[in-house]
Amino acid sequence: MSDMSSGSQLKELALFGGEAMLPEGPPSWPLADESVHRALESAFADGSWGRYHGPHVEHLESCLAEYHAVPHALTCCSGTFAVELALRALKVKAGDEVILAGYDFSGNFRSIEATGARPVLVDIDPLTSSLDVALVEQAIGASTRAIVASHLHGGIVTMSALREIADRRGLQIVEDACQTPGGRVEARRAGAWGDVGVLSFGGSKLLTAGRGGAIVTTRQDIAQRAKSYCEQGNNAFPLSELQAAVLLPQLEELDGRNAIRWDNAELLREQLRDINGLTPVAEKPPESSASLFKMAWLFDKSTWTVDRDRFLAAMQAEGVAVDAGFRGFTKRGSGRCRRVGHLTNSEQAAHETVLLHHPVLLESRSTIEKVVAAFHKVHQAFSEPNAA
Ligand SMILES: Cc1ncc(COP(=O)(O)O)c(C=O)c1O
Repeated sequence: MSDMSSGSQLKELALFGGEAMLPEGPPSWPLADESVHRALESAFADGSWGRYHGPHVEHLESCLAEYHAVPHALTCCSGTFAVELALRALKVKAGDEVILAGYDFSGNFRSIEATGARPVLVDIDPLTSSLDVALVEQAIGASTRAIVASHLHGGIVTMSALREIADRRGLQIVEDACQTPGGRVEARRAGAWGDVGVLSFGGSKLLTAGRGGAIVTTRQDIAQRAKSYCEQGNNAFPLSELQAAVLLPQLEELDGRNAIRWDNAELLREQLRDINGLTPVAEKPPESSASLFKMAWLFDKSTWTVDRDRFLAAMQAEGVAVDAGFRGFTKRGSGRCRRVGHLTNSEQAAHETVLLHHPVLLESRSTIEKVVAAFHKVHQAFSEPNAA
């Protein structure tokens, strides 16, 4: 989406003539935080930017542990690797099965395969875009060892129910909170329900260092195994001192910014309710609040005169950072995975999900209103006359 940031490009793209609703394009990310600037200067001044070891990684790990109210946090090179690390720390191995939603980040499927284990696909709950916990029990077989549960697009997996099943059936949980750092899932932080929780610090993420990831866990044995796997004599998958230095001030801002994102998301959701071809996903559940990396809708083709791609192109031409969701795994062959049931909701999510990227959710009320106007403008141009 970064390629759409220039106003002239937007004019060229404009599909309806006239000026785009957000002619300046989508807000850029990351923010130019003064606190991050100071952290960079300080890492320069003390030389930690160029060292293997320094104070920042250790400090970040202790802040992440405290923030998630768990005793252990370990940083690493990416969220993708953190999922694999989590599975390895849980001793998942060749011949095992790992339950995963049929619609999820593609790297999670590969991380399971990297351990030699086989993914078992379970459908999602269409209201949350995330693993449907009610379907998990019927997916458990003799070789099942673990469950990867990702909170996606502002949706929350009901972790207390999943925890109960896992404990009763002797399974372990990797809770992927890459899309919801700082989210609250009932009484805990997202990530703190799993045997291992996973975070990403990738370039588009709410906490960003360009690249990076972490795991959090209450269990000493898991923390120890993860550390041994990472170190393997040469600390092969580290987060750098400089990355840790820029993440520390962002962690302090996270809760405040998450609250602003939710308020703006609620406003957007409310103001777009009359567009019946876009069904909002992930309304705020009463006791939980995900943090919003992406805000999602399902695009009902039958009420539009164009397909999802054309809708997205028109919105992008208006300067709004929207994109399609994940492809999901419903087309993966039975040689690579076992599927449980029809995965109808996962298939629907793969075809219909429309995602709004988070940076705009920190913008002013007037920018949010322009986003609303862009949705309405595109809807007016492309809605089926009988569906309005
Ligand atoms: C749900 C989920 N898990 C894991 C990742 C991987 O994180 P990273 O980009 O840091 O490898 C992502 C990235 O978007 C994600 O959305």
